[in-house]
Amino acid sequence: MMLNVGKYLLAGLALGGANARSTNIASVANERIHGHESFVDNDGVRIHYRSYGSGPLLVLQQGSPDRETTWNTFQIQEFAKKYTVVTPTLRGYPPSDVPPEKEDYAAAAHVSDMLKGLVMVNTPIIPVFLPLIEFDSYQHLLSEYTIPYYAYHPGQPKNVSTIVQHILNETYRDQIAEYVNKSLRYGMLDFYNENFPAPPYGQNLSTEGLTQTVPSAIIWEELDPYFSPAMQNGLEAWFDYDIRLVVIPGAGH
Ligand SMILES: *[C@@H]1O[C@H](CO)[C@@H](O)[C@H](O)[C@H]1NC(C)=O
Ligand SMILES: *[C@@H]1O[C@H](CO)[C@@H](O)[C@H](O)[C@H]1NC(C)=O
Ligand SMILES: *[C@@H]1O[C@H](CO)[C@@H](O)[C@H](O)[C@H]1NC(C)=O
Ligand SMILES: *[C@@H]1O[C@H](CO)[C@@H](O)[C@H](O)[C@H]1NC(C)=O
Repeated sequence: MMLNVGKYLLAGLALGGANARSTNIASVANERIHGHESFVDNDGVRIHYRSYGSGPLLVLQQGSPDRETTWNTFQIQEFAKKYTVVTPTLRGYPPSDVPPEKEDYAAAAHVSDMLKGLVMVNTPIIPVFLPLIEFDSYQHLLSEYTIPYYAYHPGQPKNVSTIVQHILNETYRDQIAEYVNKSLRYGMLDFYNENFPAPPYGQNLSTEGLTQTVPSAIIWEELDPYFSPAMQNGLEAWFDYDIRLVVIPGAGH
């Protein structure tokens, strides 16, 4: 189970630091951007990650459709000055393993209980999102793209250009299109199968136990095409510590 991933990542890092020393200037510059790449074994699933900088551990987890390189241009350059930044590639996303079973993608398989703080960037805030996806017609419209995902079988068209259409940076959009095009797709979609509510909507899903118990912040980029702005409503109820919400106009998912 992934509950140990923090520990494994730290163990991996200690190793990485020892192996990463290099006097070659080109390779130093290369590492500043691409980090030190390595893998950890988490209960038989190999998880790829990159690490940068030094200091307290800061884990930046990519979403979909994307990969761990999403943080390279801006966030790494800043945060690596103060933190050991680790960017894992989600399971199901090469070069991490793509385990075969749907159950391998359940939330518990990729959540750590070692968090000291959490910053969420345009990701569903689950206890607020569950009632929205079940009962809000605008959210239904925004979630239509997920419906073919539940029935996807390897070999079916991936619709690469549709998947990447909302990535605003054209260069990065092309890179992710190429990555999705050449990668297995089912592992990426099994995150939806296991965690994202499917029709028929209108169910009363339990939100019990979903209160966040570490200090948290949410960065909300207003042009998100997948999540209703209503996700910003009623957040306070779900965070034991203060929740800070920062809304960024003109930015997308
Ligand atoms: C791809 O697009 C076709 C045509 O719009 C659609 O029928 C199919 O369900 C889509 N598949 C996926 C996985 O999105
Ligand atoms: C767009 O993405 C590319 C590749 O990740 C990056 O090098 C470039 O700086 C980005 N441009 C902007 C304006 O964010
Ligand atoms: C996907 O890759 C195939 C060749 O493997 C290529 O013909 C096709 O144009 C690519 N599509 C996209 C959207 O990159
Ligand atoms: C959901 O809960 C509401 C009130 O709590 C109730 O009126 C409704 O019948 C329930 N619906 C289902 C499908 O259980």
